[in-house]
Amino acid sequence: MKVRPTHSPRSNQPFETERLRAQDRHWIHPWENFQTAGKIERTIAAHAQGIYIYDTDGNRLIDGPGGMWCVNIGHGNGEIADAVAEQIRRLSYYTPWSLGNAPAAELSEKLAEMAPGDLNHVFYTTGGSTAVDSALRFVMYLNNCLGRPEKKHIISRQDAYHGSTYLSASCSGKARDKNHLDFETGFIHHLPSPNPYRRPEGMTVEDFCDAKVADLENKILELGADKVAAFIAEPILASGGVIMPPPGYHVKCLEVCRKYDVLYIADEVVTAFGRLGHFFSCEAVFGVVPDIITVAKGITSAYVPLGAVLISDRLIEQLSGEQAGDGYFANGFTYSGHPVACAAALKNIEIMERDKILEHVRAVGPYFQERLRALTDIPIVGDVRGMGLMGCVECAIGREGKDSLALDYEIGARIDRHCQALGLIVRPLINMCVLSPPLIITRPQIDDLVSILRIGVERAMEEVHQEGLWNG
Ligand SMILES: Cc1ncc(COP(=O)(O)O)c(C=O)c1O
Repeated sequence: MKVRPTHSPRSNQPFETERLRAQDRHWIHPWENFQTAGKIERTIAAHAQGIYIYDTDGNRLIDGPGGMWCVNIGHGNGEIADAVAEQIRRLSYYTPWSLGNAPAAELSEKLAEMAPGDLNHVFYTTGGSTAVDSALRFVMYLNNCLGRPEKKHIISRQDAYHGSTYLSASCSGKARDKNHLDFETGFIHHLPSPNPYRRPEGMTVEDFCDAKVADLENKILELGADKVAAFIAEPILASGGVIMPPPGYHVKCLEVCRKYDVLYIADEVVTAFGRLGHFFSCEAVFGVVPDIITVAKGITSAYVPLGAVLISDRLIEQLSGEQAGDGYFANGFTYSGHPVACAAALKNIEIMERDKILEHVRAVGPYFQERLRALTDIPIVGDVRGMGLMGCVECAIGREGKDSLALDYEIGARIDRHCQALGLIVRPLINMCVLSPPLIITRPQIDDLVSILRIGVERAMEEVHQEGLWNG
């Protein structure tokens, strides 16, 4: 009997991978590099279970980034699949402009119950960028209604990431993403990054904290408090490289905001829903009750897209009655409060509560951090930081020198390649391996992840050393 070949004799890849890679070339991926598009051999995910992704070549890979900080309860959860399927059969959609629906109503009450302080109102969006965008538009709307149309300036920070709509991208502060697009610069401002690793030589962390808080106050004074509407901040700057502002920073920033009647928006798109061991981290971990919180990602553990803006009673009350005039908040999406997304979120939250996933994160988080920090003995590792199940291993190859960025990219790409060959997806941000595995990860799985990462970093380091790119 003739045996049919399963692999291409040309590439030695399974036919399925070849076919999908060819089809994938029609897909413009986020952050596409059009110079290399179609030329790179992209891994194609086939299926996933728990903390593992399986590619079309049958390789099993630990999902180091948790998708994109979002696959919180892990892959392949049948209960969410059932909840989503059931909701699709019962009511797949109806316009949120005119009707309510059960999952969105129930989720709103649940979020209000779980959220800190008086953040009892929920505006649904389709993801994190639209949540940030909606939060900013809400702030503009509020100040217009309150008769202070000048109070519009937004203060953000370098290294922040807030999304990919025009407004949210304008608030993002990652220099390398600012190359070939246009941004709002008239009323959006960026403070220097609150990254203690990059603080001036000889400065204590406490003094650095005071300096970063002073940056905020000085910017408000420079612009005029009557012109500044809001400060937007991720509790931990995730995509900027898991930057942990110094202790006390958020509390002090909130005090400054209160002093000058500036709203504090906590962008918890990454840090909510368990990543730091709590449903919301701003109060539980950082001691601040903001005016507005944006969430997305982990709210559904990424089974379906959903984002939300949580807004305080205090702000909503200012808009009720006379002050609202005859206006309305003309902002919303066809899929705001999508019943299927909300059903997925409700089931996700139910599973997190029932399976004590937050408690699990609080238990294994310190172990994860300890194991990661042990990597600082690798000469090329400059800094290891993080909290809960969120970490970053930053390589220091290119901190100085004119080719530093190219070298940083080089080391990241090599770590990526080695780790993937060994069974771990890292996808470094330039020279930074950011890790946010599914929250169900166990201690032995943490050991596997960190062991692979160690070998990957060491191999990359040996290569750049041998090639004379780095002298250690
Ligand atoms: C803190 C933060 N805000 C907003 C966003 C944008 O979310 P989305 O990609 O769902 O639009 C992200 C995405 O990574 C994020 O990390």
